[in-house]
Amino acid sequence: ADDGYKLWLKYDLLKNNTKVAEYKRFSDFIDVQFPISPIIQTAEKELKKGLSGLVGATITKTVKTSGGIVFQKDNALPKEGFKIVAKNGNIVISAQTDKGILYGSFELLRQIQTENSIASINLSSSPKIQLRMLNHWDNVLGTIERGYAGSSLWKWYELPENIDPRYVEYARANASIGINAVVLNNVNASARFLTKEYLEKVKALADVFRPYGIQVFLSINFASPKILGKLKNSDPLEPEVKKWWNDKAKEVYSFIPDFGGFLVKANSEGEPGPQEFGRTHADGANMLAEAVKPFNGLVIWRAFVYGPNPKGDRYKEAFNEFKPLDGQFAKNVIVQVKNGPIDFMPREPFHPLFGAMPKTPLAMEFQITQEYLGFSTNLVFLPSLFKEVLESDTYVNGKGSTVAKVVDGSVHDYPLTAIAGVANTGSDRNWTGHFMSQANWYGYGRLAWNHEISPEQIAEEWTKMTLTKEANSQKIIRNMLLTSRETYVNFTNPLGLHHIMGQNIHFGMEPWLEKSARPDWTAIYYHRADSVGIGFDRTANGSNALGLYSKDVQNQWNNPQTCDLKYLLWFHHVSWNQKLSTGKTLWDELCTRYYTGVTEVEKLQNDWLKVKGNVDEEIFEDVKGRLAAQHREALNWRDACVLYFQTHSKQPIPTPFVKPT
Ligand code: GCU
Repeated sequence: ADDGYKLWLKYDLLKNNTKVAEYKRFSDFIDVQFPISPIIQTAEKELKKGLSGLVGATITKTVKTSGGIVFQKDNALPKEGFKIVAKNGNIVISAQTDKGILYGSFELLRQIQTENSIASINLSSSPKIQLRMLNHWDNVLGTIERGYAGSSLWKWYELPENIDPRYVEYARANASIGINAVVLNNVNASARFLTKEYLEKVKALADVFRPYGIQVFLSINFASPKILGKLKNSDPLEPEVKKWWNDKAKEVYSFIPDFGGFLVKANSEGEPGPQEFGRTHADGANMLAEAVKPFNGLVIWRAFVYGPNPKGDRYKEAFNEFKPLDGQFAKNVIVQVKNGPIDFMPREPFHPLFGAMPKTPLAMEFQITQEYLGFSTNLVFLPSLFKEVLESDTYVNGKGSTVAKVVDGSVHDYPLTAIAGVANTGSDRNWTGHFMSQANWYGYGRLAWNHEISPEQIAEEWTKMTLTKEANSQKIIRNMLLTSRETYVNFTNPLGLHHIMGQNIHFGMEPWLEKSARPDWTAIYYHRADSVGIGFDRTANGSNALGLYSKDVQNQWNNPQTCDLKYLLWFHHVSWNQKLSTGKTLWDELCTRYYTGVTEVEKLQNDWLKVKGNVDEEIFEDVKGRLAAQHREALNWRDACVLYFQTHSKQPIPTPFVKPT
């Protein structure tokens, strides 16, 4: 039995003997014609492990003229890129840096694991984005904010003395998909992470991750000078506050010389920040930037801000606060923007800041953990969502100025580029709670490396590497993954509905929520259902959030007749009887989507039954159980939402879903 703890790094002996024979021809030795380093040693170790498992090879030290793998230096290649070429009976992996060799080694293993021919391989690849990060929302005492797979992987109380072997497994998994930086702790950061007590622990983790090419960052609490340093405040323009941060940075780097830098959530959801002292986000970020600059450190400043204004439109707030600061941030500052303007919804239009800050490197922040996406009971393949956002066109420099090209720096020539995914990992034996959510971690990494890869390719690779080598089951599972996100949208937030989730833990639905502790935040604020219709008017007649986008984007969404139905209720208040492009009225279409969503979950359940016997028994049972839970939740969503919206529409649920009485 295997409950999935090896992730996609499952190096079981391949069953295809012809293929095994082919791979074995290149598995006699590893010839390192590259300056040795801990990262190079990792690459060697991984290849040995992979090849011994996958093809039963024993790699010896004896280098012969042919039959092995050769590491070579090639300074013409991009920094972390690599080339894999079959040459004179060997496989040559070349790179400029040791990291490139490491990534090339994992790519070679992936080729073998997915049973591609390597006899005449000629492949080169390099990352489109420099910093490919995971953000952990992990707390000092081992809990995880919005974590659904157990508690934190970091055993703070055992660190620094005890090194859990899982840290290495985690680092291997990340390196195998090209992730090169991690933020260890929650953006709602405890100041305690900057104490000597915790820095020693952080150092221990950094030491484990370094040979896998992974740099460590920390989220910081902006009020640390006051909390830890006992200063009278944390005003970024106060000389003693600056000095406190300069000294702190020095201390951090004395523990971790290659420390990445600070991630900052400030003046957001009650977190402290420079605005308390009448300073701007730029003032705050630049002060920290100066502190880490001598060590080549970075400051990643989050743009997730919104205030308690029930009359306003939260959609516009980050834009309004940050856009005017474009050009004011120091050179080593990156502003990190969530993919959408509200908050990790099942479907959101891209954030209007993308394309609007040509002078400030913007990082993309995705969420891999399924906060608003069904926790660990729902199968939702997120590469579909990531890809949809990355491919959205901002039109800022004409057609083709996609969000991906803003983030990878090509639209505005950003000198720094970064992408972050809020991690879905935890202490559960299978890492991610829902076994299938492993594909979201995997897929995030693959897209962070190369946003041009398709969700189809990711689904296929992951299924082959992780679940089964049986062709028909592969096809079934690949399809399940690829349809799953739309299914989730259908039974939760169809047609552009958003933020109608249960308020407290963000679980389930609560569209009837009219009052909340946060005056800006009720479900009715977002869906705006009334006797006439439903949806948030964000055109010029309404909040005009649409006006934040370039003209071409506005044209695409401005007109309710032509607006893509995916986004309809994001931008328009549409009357219940309005005929849509589907031929149905809005009310009938809404019901149809909710009902279809549930049918689609039933299809997922049935499809899964078909792979029984071709995937591990334990994984089979676990996923089956979670799909059943998803079905129960989908029924709840459908019935609750349809019945609630019916109190506004006053129309019957259409046939065939409910027979007229
Ligand atoms: C969401 C989430 C919070 C998180 C916040 C953020 O609102 O619910 O837990 O802290 O996003 O990204 O800062």
